[in-house]
Amino acid sequence: MLTEDDWKVWRDLRLAALTEAPYAFGSQLAQWQGDGDREERWRGRLAIAGSYNVVATLDGQPVGMASGVPTDQSGVVELISMYVAPAGRGRGVGDHLLRAVEQWARQVGAETLRLAVVEGNTNASALYLRNGFHDTGELGDLMPDSVRRERIMAKRLAA
Ligand SMILES: CC(C)(COP(=O)(O)OP(=O)(O)OC[C@H]1O[C@@H](n2cnc3c(N)ncnc32)[C@H](O)[C@@H]1OP(=O)(O)O)[C@@H](O)C(=O)NCCC(=O)NCCS
Repeated sequence: MLTEDDWKVWRDLRLAALTEAPYAFGSQLAQWQGDGDREERWRGRLAIAGSYNVVATLDGQPVGMASGVPTDQSGVVELISMYVAPAGRGRGVGDHLLRAVEQWARQVGAETLRLAVVEGNTNASALYLRNGFHDTGELGDLMPDSVRRERIMAKRLAA
C-alpha cells in the first residue's frame, strides 16, 4: 500500500497510463500536465480519505497500479486507476492488482466492489469478468470524446 510519500512512483505510472492508454480513462493527460502536475496534487490524490493505492512491480520495476476508493453509497467501494504497462501485460499483473483491491475492500467491510469500464475495452472487461465481476447494466460517465460511455460492473463480496 502506498503513502503520500510514494507520489513520484504513482505520478510516473499515472502519466504513462494517460499517455499510452487515453482511451481507457475519464481523466485526460492535459489535466495532469503543466499547472496540473504539482507535488501537492499527487500527494492529495494518494491521500483521498479511506482510499487504498497499490503499485505492482515486476523484476523490481513498477509496472502496474490500482486504487480502491469509498463511494457515496454505504457498503460500496470502487476500483479506479487500474493500469498495467505494456511490458507487464498478459502476465497476471492485472489479476494481482484486482485481488489486492478486493482484499482491501473486504477488510474495510464493503459488500460490493464496483468499477467503470469504457465500452470496447475488451482486455479490461475480460479481466474483470474472469475475476467474478458482472455487468450491472448501469451506464457511467460519458468519455472525454463525447461518444463512448462507461459501463458499470460490480462484484458482490462474500462476508
Ligand atoms: C486491462 C489491463 C489492466 C489488463 O492487464 P493485464 O495484467 O495484462 O491483464 P491480463 O494478463 O489479464 O490480460 C488481459 C488481456 O490482455 C490481453 N493480453 C495478453 N497479453 C497481452 C500483451 N502482452 N499485450 C497486450 N495485451 C495482452 C489478452 O487479451 C488478455 O486476456 P486473456 O488473458 O483472456 O487472453 C491492461 O491491459 C491495461 O492497463 N490496459 C490499459 C488501461 C486500461 O484499460 N485500464 C483499465 C481501465 S477500466
